[in-house]
Amino acid sequence: MPLSGNPLRVAVIGAGIIGRAHAQRLSSGTSDAVLVAVADAHAETARAEAARWGVTADPLDVLLARDDIDAVIVAVPSGLHAQLTVAALDAGKHVLLEKPIEVTVEAADKILDAEKRSGKVLSVASQRRFAAENQFVFRAIRDGHLGKVTSATVEVPLWRSQEYYDSGSWRGTWALDGGGALMNQGVHLVDLALWLLGEVDEVYAHAGLLAHERIEVEDTVTITARLRDGVLLTFLATTAAYDGVPIRYAVFGNGGCVVVEDERLTRFDSSSGPAPAFDGAPVDQPMAQLDDFVTAVKTGGRPLVTSAQARAAVAFIEAVYRSARTGTPVRPR
Ligand SMILES: NC(=O)c1ccc[n+]([C@@H]2O[C@H](COP(=O)([O-])OP(=O)(O)OC[C@H]3O[C@@H](n4cnc5c(N)ncnc54)[C@H](O)[C@@H]3O)[C@@H](O)[C@H]2O)c1
Repeated sequence: MPLSGNPLRVAVIGAGIIGRAHAQRLSSGTSDAVLVAVADAHAETARAEAARWGVTADPLDVLLARDDIDAVIVAVPSGLHAQLTVAALDAGKHVLLEKPIEVTVEAADKILDAEKRSGKVLSVASQRRFAAENQFVFRAIRDGHLGKVTSATVEVPLWRSQEYYDSGSWRGTWALDGGGALMNQGVHLVDLALWLLGEVDEVYAHAGLLAHERIEVEDTVTITARLRDGVLLTFLATTAAYDGVPIRYAVFGNGGCVVVEDERLTRFDSSSGPAPAFDGAPVDQPMAQLDDFVTAVKTGGRPLVTSAQARAAVAFIEAVYRSARTGTPVRPR
């Protein structure tokens, strides 16, 4: 629903695959935000994208100094998120930042510090939280329909070709991708699991590079974790599983269970009576997250995905990598 006042004036920083999707969304006329400028380290890339939407292509310092820009979407390689997000917050811009928040907890903390001193709204992309089935599961757990949650399992069996990793020099590097199947692709389900189940006490993991070459990071990882209130979790993330196998998660409790497969609720059982109402109509998830961000800016409210929660996902992943390296259980920072 459009809010009162003028549309939020937004610039996109980083006009690659996902930055271009943001630019298109902002230009679609279906949100209470508009695209006003584009920046990219490659001036020609910025110019081409800006020309497509009839907006300006600005060098970063010029863009951040403009007082007719309210917010920026940061869509650069993950290991550059802190550098650009801190600059944007310090320049007084609200920020919608692509996932993961950064590639280390240390870098994420620089973003949280800048957010605090700026007083601006910061949210981090995790669009799956907005899907109808995931909203349903969140409410079902919160309202006690599963009883006491005891365990959960998550599978992210993806396929990424060698050409995918070769397509950008930052892909598959520790410095800029921050990890492989878990940090880049699996982070969506890490965020979902922590949002649904709560904080993590300890993780134990194995990781391998099993089906790709010329990358530094894992393409397969298995994890067991214990959460703060005792829930036990298993998690698989891989980009070496050919091809098209659905992402699946299940949450089990002593009074019910829920299974989500391929973005569909495939099972819901509860001993507490009939299922709560579920409207499974598909949601445009990135648009829903953009709307949530714009609403938070315009109302001074809190976005659904907070920086602290995005930091927790990276703390979990960092602990997983440390456990896989050391062969010992690790507590996330
Ligand atoms: N939410 C999602 O589902 C989703 C999907 C894909 C990617 N992502 C995230 O989006 C980010 C970008 O991924 P991508 O696939 O679009 O990458 P990409 O390589 O296609 O695009 C990155 C762009 O950033 C530009 N860039 C690099 N350094 C810059 C700088 N210092 N200043 C300005 N521009 C700079 C590059 O020139 C390039 O155009 C990553 O953090 C990735 O994890 C999120």
